[in-house]
Amino acid sequence: MALSPQSPRHLPAWEKLERYFEDAKGKTLSSWFKDPGRTEKLSFAVGDFNVDLSKNLIDPEITGIFAELANQAGIPERASAMVRGEEINVSEGRAVLHPLLRSPRGMQSGVLSGGIDALEKIQGVLERMYSFAREVRSGKIRMEGARRVKTVVNIGIGGSDLGPEMVYGALQNKSDGSLSARFISNIDPSSFIEAVRGLDPASTLFLVASKSFSTQETLSNAAQAKKWLLKGLGERGVLESEGEAVARHFAGICSMENLQKAEEFGIRPENVFEMFPFIGGRYSVDSSVGLSLVLSLGPETFERFLEGLRAVDEYFFSTSAEENAIIQMAMLNVWYADFFKAETHAILPYNDYLGRLPAYLQQLTMESNGKRVDLAGKEVDLHTGEIYWGGVGTNSQHSFFQLLHQGTHLIPADFIAFANNSNQLDEEEEEMQERLLSSFIAQSAALAFGSGEEAAAERRCPGNRPSTSIFGRVLSAYTLGELIALYEHIVFCQGVVWGINSFDQFGVELGKKLSRRIFSLLSDTDSNLSGLDSSTRRLIEWYWEHRS
Ligand code: F6P
Repeated sequence: MALSPQSPRHLPAWEKLERYFEDAKGKTLSSWFKDPGRTEKLSFAVGDFNVDLSKNLIDPEITGIFAELANQAGIPERASAMVRGEEINVSEGRAVLHPLLRSPRGMQSGVLSGGIDALEKIQGVLERMYSFAREVRSGKIRMEGARRVKTVVNIGIGGSDLGPEMVYGALQNKSDGSLSARFISNIDPSSFIEAVRGLDPASTLFLVASKSFSTQETLSNAAQAKKWLLKGLGERGVLESEGEAVARHFAGICSMENLQKAEEFGIRPENVFEMFPFIGGRYSVDSSVGLSLVLSLGPETFERFLEGLRAVDEYFFSTSAEENAIIQMAMLNVWYADFFKAETHAILPYNDYLGRLPAYLQQLTMESNGKRVDLAGKEVDLHTGEIYWGGVGTNSQHSFFQLLHQGTHLIPADFIAFANNSNQLDEEEEEMQERLLSSFIAQSAALAFGSGEEAAAERRCPGNRPSTSIFGRVLSAYTLGELIALYEHIVFCQGVVWGINSFDQFGVELGKKLSRRIFSLLSDTDSNLSGLDSSTRRLIEWYWEHRS
């Protein structure tokens, strides 16, 4: 693919935005809202969601300039290059094919991987996942002592953890309860200890999810799991052969180039589910990385999840930039980051089941677009990425909303809610649901319009603080799929405009390397610390002085 990235600053649409920004700075949401048609003009239907952009610092006509920017930056061409399987992840020479994970059955993608159509490969793995899950769920596949699996424990980190953990949290109430899931990611030993607390080893299935099958955290936890399993089975008198027990109680999720490592761990090749090189970790929740979801929620629920993702893919790829809420949201993010110099972006789901959504989106957005050089390796001349953070409403109203309302930072926020609760509610609970939604609606209005001039200074909320409201009918596997695809494509579009590679993550490597070096020093108080900076040296010495 031609590599002539240019700073968006030189695009005619950017220059238009610069002029427009001068004008916009003097306006307020209160003044913009004098236009009675504003909300209608800035509301978009995306799948099952109503996306209301009207409380953003834009005039409706700017959507036209945003569309020009998107087109001039080449979003349509890059999107086509992505689906054609071009290696748009240039630094790693890889295609980026996560939309294929949810393509309809029986199609051909036209993208070959090892001589076979990539879609055929993806769907082959999906079928194996479904059939494995059906056999585990029906009790055909049993653990040592002929026990049925009651708990599946996913061991993985980053993209091999955050997606399944978030989705499980969001949809756990849809499970028939026959099989629950737990997630272990951190190398903090407490993480493993707490995750297996109360579990019966004989009815526990571990999934070791690691594309590289070499991530320190995952391998350490997997080794702990093996130890815990064998000890527990031995104590219950159901351990016949260690190798057989590991083979029964572990499945693996990794790339085929690392299959041997999984086998060396003791996992049978037929229980390894392929992760493809063309699917990035943070884009992998709907791949084999979702095996814990297929097992715990069932293949049918996972299928609905894929359908939701697909629906928003279709919307994204077929809707013109001006009408495309995803492109408009992405351009808004660029608008705030580069014109208003906003540093952060808040994610505020008014739904307890989406408690892990901010953490999931942190990896998706920050690992993707936290880049300082363009596709050609040249330093960018503007701000990329945004710092994503957030928490559930209403809890966050009682903690950090003070700063949103009266602080000095401009923080664009995404409010996310569903009209209906995912559970059957009684009358009192219906009232609680309406109170929840009242807060969802009220908070964005309070941020936008403030409290008026009359209040005392310390009480006054100045308003003019932007937000987007994303309102769905009900949280389900399908609508969650839609929501994830929406954010995946937003990240992609921002990356294209900034001219960066949203699909590598070399920044995380240095810390890993240093930690390996420090690990080799920590255990031995005679280690030679010369050559280390004084702070690192002192931290190590302090550890030596204080460890018990
Ligand atoms: O350290 C970052 C990272 O490489 C992520 O991009 C990835 O999702 C995670 O680690 C886990 O990697 P793996 O699946 O290879 O264990």
